[in-house]
Amino acid sequence: MDREKFSSGLAVFFATLGSAVGLGNIWKFPYLTGQYGGGAFLLVYLACIVCVGLPVMYSEFVIGRRTRLNAVGALKKLAPGTPWKHIGTMGVAASYLIMFFYSCVAGWVYYYLFKAVRGDFAAVTMADAKAQFGAVVVSPVTPVLWQFVVLAVVAAILIMGVKNGIERITKTLMPLLFLLILACDLRALTLPGAADGVRFLFAADFGKLSAAAVLTALGLAFFKLSLGMGCMITYGSYFTDDNNLFGTGLKVALSDTLVSLLAGLAIFPTVFAFGLEPGAGPGLLFMTIPLVFSQMPFGGLLLVAFFFLAAIAATTAMLSLVEVPVAYLAEERGIRRPVAVLINAALIFAVGILAALSADKAGPLGGITLMGRGFFDWFDYLSSNILLPLGGLLMVIFMSYVLPRRDIARELTNDGALAAGRLVAFYFFAIRYITPALLIVIFLNSVGVIKL
Ligand code: PHE
Repeated sequence: MDREKFSSGLAVFFATLGSAVGLGNIWKFPYLTGQYGGGAFLLVYLACIVCVGLPVMYSEFVIGRRTRLNAVGALKKLAPGTPWKHIGTMGVAASYLIMFFYSCVAGWVYYYLFKAVRGDFAAVTMADAKAQFGAVVVSPVTPVLWQFVVLAVVAAILIMGVKNGIERITKTLMPLLFLLILACDLRALTLPGAADGVRFLFAADFGKLSAAAVLTALGLAFFKLSLGMGCMITYGSYFTDDNNLFGTGLKVALSDTLVSLLAGLAIFPTVFAFGLEPGAGPGLLFMTIPLVFSQMPFGGLLLVAFFFLAAIAATTAMLSLVEVPVAYLAEERGIRRPVAVLINAALIFAVGILAALSADKAGPLGGITLMGRGFFDWFDYLSSNILLPLGGLLMVIFMSYVLPRRDIARELTNDGALAAGRLVAFYFFAIRYITPALLIVIFLNSVGVIKL
């Protein structure tokens, strides 16, 4: 059977953007920016996207498209009989860790969509919004149920395949998401007191930056652009032959950052207008958005639209996450695609329950902690802050020292069809010096070996 491919440049763009844009923009980016003090964190994050994110993204595209294989198979093919294939194995492991907690948060989003449709947020007050979220995270049933729904939807789309599933869904829904975020911004920015929120997001106070903040910004950059775990290898393996990899990466990174900023601009003005705490943590989105729309004409409708689009973002990102082990099982283990999808969905659900029940200290499993972190936090911390940056570091080392430069240059320029000599030279310089140096310094700094 022929291996599937996306059908056009536009399909490549929307699918890749669909992977990048997700709960990272709408949920994680705002709450981390809030916790780590706003503008200064944002600047470090942007620097990480440019100096680390893009070079790693191009590396993954090259590995994927050159081999047209899953994350493990791709590295095996490029460096047969060497341990480099474990970059792929590590990636599959990281994708599971992310999916365990990601499917849980996606479940909250689906549930909030359901609540919005039901009208639970009509005339909600700040105290109600907090109480409603609090009730979700401590319930032993609700989050698990909705996590199941999420996985069922994701599995159904993936079973339809790369073109009929991933491509069709992302191409239809990504443009909608963008429009809706703009509508939310219009409302949030016209709230009285909104300027404080804007200032918070853009005014840089470097005094607040800690080593932990820098590592978190780096981890967020990886998480945001779906890097360091073979997701972009897998999607890259479905890219068209004539796709301009530099262009796609840049467009995706820019659009993704724009969506994050727009999400921040919808959330922080509300936080300040209603006197909420910007460092409120993972519940930030769920407590602010119902408030923004609660007391306005057609607010109920906008609220439904917002959570619908958040659900889209979460779903399209999940597609790319689950695709990593699906492609692996299908190609390396010879399991039929639908079966591979179902096996993965079941596994994610089974372990993901641990995340759903431990997302809050007061949750059913919230009391089980190791070094201050419960299951939910460990899945998140281990993947974003450790495995993804480590995967990225190994990938740029692999590209710099193992894969022949000529092959990389050919892949990046589509066999010489693109005149991108300078970009290629800059890419080689970045992956050999800038990206690994930054990754190593941030790592050593965060484990305390060096003190910046
Ligand atoms: N980029 C996605 C988001 O921001 C999350 C993700 C991470 C998706 C890694 C795939 C791989 O929500």
